[in-house]
Amino acid sequence: MFIIGVLASGKGSNLQAIINHINSGFLNVKIGVVISDNPDAYALKIARDWHIPSEYIEPGKYKTFLEKNQEKKYVECLKKHGVELVCLAGFMRVIKKEFFNAYRGKIINIHPSLLPSFRGLQAWKQALDYGVRFTGCTVHFVEEEIDTGPIILQAVVPVLDDDTPKSLHQRIQEKEHIIYPLAIKLISENKIFIKGRRVIINEN
Ligand code: GRF
Repeated sequence: MFIIGVLASGKGSNLQAIINHINSGFLNVKIGVVISDNPDAYALKIARDWHIPSEYIEPGKYKTFLEKNQEKKYVECLKKHGVELVCLAGFMRVIKKEFFNAYRGKIINIHPSLLPSFRGLQAWKQALDYGVRFTGCTVHFVEEEIDTGPIILQAVVPVLDDDTPKSLHQRIQEKEHIIYPLAIKLISENKIFIKGRRVIINEN
């Protein structure tokens, strides 16, 4: 069975969506472990409720990335649980060297905009403030530079005249909960190939 690891800092709705898609039989993968840098992350509670191994691993002294020794502990924990694909799901830290040494090309992320537009934080608010008519979400491979790796899947969400940051984010998340499990399914079934910056999906 293909084993994934989920890293989450917050409420874990994407984790829940992955679990739902496993329970329905759509996804034939196992979540080996859920790790958080935030001891109060609701994602950890979701993991406990579903009897999925979960760990809080201290991030160390920096705010935006993990201290080198701590990053090593994340990687050791993922390896210990046999994780083959690392899924970032609202993990609020930049991934650094220890991760890339161990899992290069095997780390994916979900971002709440149509990349390359609106990289970084609160991308739904950036889209609203900019005035675009359409935004959405992107599942992509993770590279050193933030929100730049090859794009696996995207979904489009129209921006409505009466949208608030909250309502727009909510509709984007509904799409996230569809395309993130689908991307994991395609990777677990070996249907995804990277060709330069392009990701080719081979359904055969
Ligand atoms: C999502 O909007 C995702 O795009 C971003 O962080 C948020 C995580 O949400 N990377 P949740 O914790 O999965 O509900």
